[in-house]
Amino acid sequence: MSIREKYQITEYCHHFLREYIHEGDCCIDATCGKGGDTEFLCRGAGKSGRVYGFDIQKDAVELTRIRLEQSGCAKQAVLICGSHVNMADYVKEQAAVIMFNFGYLPGGDHSVATQPQTSVKAVQEGLKLLKTGGVMSLCIYSGGDTGYEEKEALLAYLKGLDAKHWLVIIHTYYNRKNDPPLPVFVVRLA
Ligand SMILES: C[S@@+](CC[C@H](N)C(=O)[O-])C[C@H]1O[C@@H](n2cnc3c(N)ncnc32)[C@H](O)[C@@H]1O
Repeated sequence: MSIREKYQITEYCHHFLREYIHEGDCCIDATCGKGGDTEFLCRGAGKSGRVYGFDIQKDAVELTRIRLEQSGCAKQAVLICGSHVNMADYVKEQAAVIMFNFGYLPGGDHSVATQPQTSVKAVQEGLKLLKTGGVMSLCIYSGGDTGYEEKEALLAYLKGLDAKHWLVIIHTYYNRKNDPPLPVFVVRLA
């Protein structure tokens, strides 16, 4: 992996999350897309773990299923074609790691993308499922087809989280131009 790839947002999030995932854990990929993050979580949680993956697009769920089968990770995954807003209907255990990678499926229809209100609601639902000491990652995009509304809604919501219970860490690609993506991590302290 090149040094640039190492700091690309999804890889950077994986790097941060690695120490939070252990064999046997429950994890959630709230936006599976092409399955890169789901595979990462499945590898970390191992065969005795459980990884729930959500996407509203049938094609995305299918791409993820194929990827997991090819990488030998399908056993520990439960893939759901549906909105992450309803994750609590499926996940009945506490999660060590929850990933959100907002926006649209790369190479897919840009109009099928995460939306400000449902994204905030899904993050709220996810935080209820996060175990103490667990972490939620959020890859937040802005500009271009995405606009700024989702980023603003998410950051406004995260700003209001009680510091006694939550630690919100925002990393920035500080010297990059043109709306660089934002890797955000929320740790449950209590
Ligand atoms: C940037 S992609 C995710 C990339 C993915 N994590 C990967 O590793 O390839 C965002 C995905 O979110 C999905 N999505 C949009 N709205 C959603 C919702 N309400 N619930 C679940 N997934 C949603 C889109 O269909 C799209 O596939």
